[in-house]
Amino acid sequence: MKNLNDKINGCADTAKGVKASGPCVIAIFGITGDLARKKILPALYNLFKTGLLNPRTRIVGIGRRKHSNIEYNEYIRSAASERAGAEDQSAADFIAMNDYCCADFNLPYEYAGIRDFLKKTAVKYKICDFLYYLSTPPADFERIIELIRDSGLSKPDFLDVSCAGAFVRVVIEKPYGYDIDSARSLNRKVLSIFSEDQIYRIDHYLGKETVQNIMIFRFINGIFEPVWNQKYIDNVQIRVFESEGIGGRANYFDRSGIIRDIIQNHCLQMLSMIAMEPPASMDADSVRNEKLKVLQSIRPFDASTPASSLAAGQYAAGEIGGTTVPAYIDESNIDKSSETETFAAIKLFIDNWRWAGVPFYLTAAKRMPERLTEVIVTFKPAPHLIFNNFCHVSEQVSNKLVIRVQPDEGISLKIFCKKPGFEMGLQTVSMNFNYSSSFDGAVLPEAYERLILDALNGDATLFMRSDEIEAAWGYITPILNCLKNREVKVKKYAAGSLGPDLCGFFGLNIC
Ligand code: BG6
Repeated sequence: MKNLNDKINGCADTAKGVKASGPCVIAIFGITGDLARKKILPALYNLFKTGLLNPRTRIVGIGRRKHSNIEYNEYIRSAASERAGAEDQSAADFIAMNDYCCADFNLPYEYAGIRDFLKKTAVKYKICDFLYYLSTPPADFERIIELIRDSGLSKPDFLDVSCAGAFVRVVIEKPYGYDIDSARSLNRKVLSIFSEDQIYRIDHYLGKETVQNIMIFRFINGIFEPVWNQKYIDNVQIRVFESEGIGGRANYFDRSGIIRDIIQNHCLQMLSMIAMEPPASMDADSVRNEKLKVLQSIRPFDASTPASSLAAGQYAAGEIGGTTVPAYIDESNIDKSSETETFAAIKLFIDNWRWAGVPFYLTAAKRMPERLTEVIVTFKPAPHLIFNNFCHVSEQVSNKLVIRVQPDEGISLKIFCKKPGFEMGLQTVSMNFNYSSSFDGAVLPEAYERLILDALNGDATLFMRSDEIEAAWGYITPILNCLKNREVKVKKYAAGSLGPDLCGFFGLNIC
C-alpha cells in the first residue's frame, strides 16, 4: 500500500549519500569525563558499527588518571555499550582502535609526552589527519588550545613526514564562553591558532534529526514558506522542558543557570533555524550567514523594563512521576542561598521585514512534569469569523503547527473541523506526522554521531561559527546581568509543576 500511495502522490524517497570518514587520529582531551563516556565514545562506537567510522581510525584518550590496559579496555567497552550491545566482535575491534595517554593536559611539561604519543600512533598507523576533541571543563579550553600550539600540535608538520593535504581540526564543546567578553576572548585565542574552517563548536541540538528537519520542512515544502512571516504568524514558542534536575553537575550548573545552559545555545540555535531566510545553498557558510542575520536582528533586551520580557524561577521540592524530589537548594553541593535560575522564559522580537511585531517566547526549565522539546508556531486567526452565531467561537481560533523535537519526534498541524452532528460545533483536530510510525519505528541517529562524522568529514554546517556565538552572547549577556543584579526576581516553583505562575505572563498563556 505504501508503494502504491507513493506512486499516486508522486512522493520521492531521496537521501544524500552518507560519506564514511577517512583514517584519522582522534585525540579526546578529558576521556574519562561524563561527556566522553556517555556521548562521545558511544557515538564513535555506533559510527564504527554502522561502517561510517573508518576502521583505521585511532582514538587516543587523554586523561590524568592512571589506568592499566585491562582497566582502560573495560572502560571503553562499558562506555560503548551505552548506545549498543558491546559484547560482540565489533566491540572487540572497536576497543582495539583505542589507546590511552596518561597526562595532565593543563600542564605544559606534559605536552612533550602527548606529542610523542600522538606522533608514534600516527606514524605506526600511517595517518596524517588529526581531530582534537576538547571534552574538558570549559575553564580549560583556552589553556589547552595554547598548549596545543606551543607544543607544535596545531600543524601536521610535527610528524616530520610529508603529509600533503592533511588536516588538523578542533572540536570544542559547550559552553563556549560564559558571557560576551569570555566568548570573544576564547574566539580570539582559538582563531589566533586555527582558522575558522578548522574549528567545530558543538551545540548538540543542531545534530538532532528533528532540528535538521526544520530546514527540510521549511525549504522543501513550498506550501509553508508563503505564510511563514508576520502577516500570518501570531507568535512562536520554543520550549525545552526537562524532568531531570541537575544530577551530579552542581558545580557547573550553579555557576551557569538555565539561560547559559540551554537558552543561549540550544534555544537560540533553534530560533535561528525557524526564523532564517532560505540560504543560497546548503553549504556551511550559506546556512550560517542566514542564521547569523537572525541573531543579529534580535531586538536588544530592554533592561529598563526587564520583567516585561524575562521571567525566572528555581525549583522547590515537589513530585515527578510519583517520586518526591528535593528543592534545588537541597541538591548536594548547592548553597542554600543560591539564586541560580532553573526556569527562564524570555520574550523577544526579531526586527526584520519577515518577523516585525511577532513575539518569540523561549522557555527552558528543569524539573518539569515531563521531558519535552517543541516549537509551537501559532498562526493568526481568520480575518473574519462567520461562525460566531452558531458555535461560541472564541478569539483563540488559531491554527498551530507543532514541531516536536523530542520525545515522540514529529510534526502536527492543529486545525479546526466540524464536530459530527446536526449542530455547527467546532473541534480542534491534529494532522500528524510521527517519525516512528512513518519510518517503521526507525531509531533516529544520536546527535553526537552526526556531528562527529561531520567534523571528521570537514562539514561545518551544523556547528556554530565565531560570529554566531558572539551574536548570541551579545543578546544574552544583558539578560544575565539583569539577573545578577537581581532586577528580576527568581520565583520558586514546585518541582513537577509547569514553573512559576506565569499564566497570562507576556500577554500569552504559556501555562
Ligand atoms: C545540555 C545541557 O547541553 O543539554 C544539559 O548542559 C541538558 O543541562 C542537555 O540536560 C539536554 O540535552 P538533550 O539532548 O537531552 O535534550
